[in-house]
Amino acid sequence: IRQLVKQRRPRGFPPGPSPIPVIGNIMSLATEPHVFMKKQSEIHGQIFSLDLGGYSAVVLNGYDAIRECLYHQADVFSDRPSLPLFMKMTKMGGLLNAKFGNGWIEHRQLASNSFRYFGSFQMPLDQKILEECMFFVDAIDEHKGKPFNPKHLVTNAVSNITNLIIFGERFTYDNCDFQHMIEIFSENVELAVSGWAFLYNAFPWIEYLPFGKHQKLFRNAAKVYNFLEQIIRRFSKGRVCNFPRHYIDDYLNKLDKSAGDLGTPYSRENLIYSVGELIIAGTETTTNTLRWAMLYMALYPNIQEKVHKELDSVLGSEKSPSLADKKRMPYVEAVLHEVLRFCNIVPLGIFRATTQDTLVSGYNIPKGTMVITNLYSVHFDEKYWCDPGTFSPHRFLDSNGNFVRREAFLPFSLGKRHCLGEHLARMEMFLFFTTMLQRFHLQFPPGTVPSLTPKLGMTLQPLPYSICAVRRQQ
Ligand code: HEM
Repeated sequence: IRQLVKQRRPRGFPPGPSPIPVIGNIMSLATEPHVFMKKQSEIHGQIFSLDLGGYSAVVLNGYDAIRECLYHQADVFSDRPSLPLFMKMTKMGGLLNAKFGNGWIEHRQLASNSFRYFGSFQMPLDQKILEECMFFVDAIDEHKGKPFNPKHLVTNAVSNITNLIIFGERFTYDNCDFQHMIEIFSENVELAVSGWAFLYNAFPWIEYLPFGKHQKLFRNAAKVYNFLEQIIRRFSKGRVCNFPRHYIDDYLNKLDKSAGDLGTPYSRENLIYSVGELIIAGTETTTNTLRWAMLYMALYPNIQEKVHKELDSVLGSEKSPSLADKKRMPYVEAVLHEVLRFCNIVPLGIFRATTQDTLVSGYNIPKGTMVITNLYSVHFDEKYWCDPGTFSPHRFLDSNGNFVRREAFLPFSLGKRHCLGEHLARMEMFLFFTTMLQRFHLQFPPGTVPSLTPKLGMTLQPLPYSICAVRRQQ
């Protein structure tokens, strides 16, 4: 906590809602924090601050404020806050939570090279994804149009794409150990923004209390790291120097080469952290997007019908979709973009911190201040979106039906720490979505309409729902 801004609202700091003694504004974050923050920005301005019980955070709202900081002051807003929870989980190493500096640069570069290289080791990555799409639709077919909860299937299929890059292999859909690891890891993604997590960050001594959700978080993390350590050992067997088969081989080669170099960021520990981060960042987000997309297709049959029409006219019933078809499918692109805008998969981004003292819109923000990027407020920014509360893919189309990019669309965030997997995620979403809708019509079991209320956490996901995937006759 030493590196965080401990003083409550230093001079020139952005204003914010009045704090309650000791716990500050933590209680206000219990339900839909992104919505609370957007409402507060209407009172205190696009840049305001919160007292998180012992340290302060600056919240950025709306497209203008986020662009001003993340893009125009990219170097300043590229750190991660040294919160006690993150320090305990990854010691601020690994990749996603790493401090801004050499260690982060090296890990980001290694991962992005792996995405490019191992994806196309034996065949182009989109071909590999298509293979997985076939396993996926065949597994859906086994339900024979009867209601099922798609969560596990989607999770397994999506995680297999990162598995291919990290381990060089896909896992079968009945691999219980891997599934259990993903389950408790994703429970931690939820717990990481619970009231208990904020309390732990403010009062780390509660580590010694025998109760509280933070204890569950620590137990889960220990199990996940233990599992990852074993699986990394298994997949690194048979490694031949200079002939890496996957991300793990590549990492271990770098580790070997840097042996004896005291300043090296490569370590067995950082390998475990970065593998975990890549698996969860890649799986949780893309899975949630596809689960929301399925839900909205069943909810709006007229939109689904337009998707079907486009698929039929571009692909017919036989040809598999390919990335080359994307340009000819503006409506599918518009639907996927609207799902990302409307559903706000990562509503508050991943917490950032400032690398130096800075001045934004007349406010002083000291070095080490935690910064929350309210991406939800960008996607519901009335200055850029007309009627943002309505689900309407048409906002991404011009009058001729061509796809149009929109500026205030930041589901992958902005600046130096923007999502590393954006390109991969876009490929996956397009190929999984089109393969599934080419074969099936999605509908809710008769007489049911699932809740649209999201389950809260670092990511927003739909509550469990049942859906019928009925084979189409084109
Ligand atoms: C970071 C969104 C898929 C890997 C992020 C951030 C967001 C995000 C909002 C935070 C950036 C920031 O600090 O401001 C999404 C969404 C996805 C997706 C909406 C899918 C629809 C993926 C995939 C991978 C991935 C498939 C990799 C397999 C990462 C990593 C970071 C990150 C490693 C941390 C980057 C850094 O700290 O330098 N993502 N992501 N993401 N994402 Fe994604």
